[in-house]
Amino acid sequence: MRSLISFVGLFCINLYAQASMSIPQMVDTQCISCHSADNYTNAPMMSGQNLEFLEFELFNFRDYVRDHEIMNQVMEDFTDQEVKEIASYISSLSLCDSQALVDEHPEADLIKGKKIFNQSCIACHNKDTLSVGPVIHGQKTIYLEEAIKSFQSTWYEPRPSRINMRSHTDMLSDQDIKDVAAYLNEQQLCK
Ligand code: HEC
Ligand code: HEC
Repeated sequence: MRSLISFVGLFCINLYAQASMSIPQMVDTQCISCHSADNYTNAPMMSGQNLEFLEFELFNFRDYVRDHEIMNQVMEDFTDQEVKEIASYISSLSLCDSQALVDEHPEADLIKGKKIFNQSCIACHNKDTLSVGPVIHGQKTIYLEEAIKSFQSTWYEPRPSRINMRSHTDMLSDQDIKDVAAYLNEQQLCK
């Protein structure tokens, strides 16, 4: 954790030092490095993602509504207009670039994961960005598992949701979460 925090320190200095960068240049150099398939963090894939969703999440990070130490610090100094431009640029990228690496899933039952997805999730999570929910196919397994858990009702809510995601995720056991996350990670976005 220590190394991540000092990384963010550096990151913020970079942002100030390079204030003359355009938004696309800033995103390409400062954001995509973490949000890439081969990055060591759990940072989700986001190129080409649903515009409305991106704006919503970026404002939530900036305003400390969605709780995440790194992303809160990354976003806190941007104006409304800049947040909108960032979301719009990321959303304009190709969704095909949001394909995470396929992880090993020794403990998951992919058939069960598919069944859960088709029964409880597919209505809002399609592979296209016109769905109610964000695209979650081809996403990193670890991110999917953590995001689903963050919606489940516990004493701590890092992520108050726009729609009541918890009514769709509360009934999932830890094993169900592993199964559905593994199934989604193995889906191809653009093939
Ligand atoms: C040091 C690594 C790091 C950097 C740099 C970084 N992010 Fe993130 N970002 C993360 C992590 C980790 C998460 C997952 C947060 C969570 O688990 O709630 C995240 C989450 C997000 C999300 C939410 C996506 C979703 O599917 O819910 C968006 C959007 C985002 N970041 C955009 C950006 C933008 C824009 C920048 C540059 C201005 C940026 N990030 C820079 C690590 C980073
Ligand atoms: C009624 C529509 C709806 C249903 C059904 C639904 N979701 Fe969602 N989901 C959403 C919306 C909207 C969001 C964005 C919430 C937010 O921005 O806080 C979301 C967010 C998510 C995220 C976070 C994605 C990210 O990039 O941060 C995951 C993971 C997820 N849903 C998984 C599931 C799973 C698994 C199921 C089925 C068990 C499911 N959802 C059912 C609408 C739905």
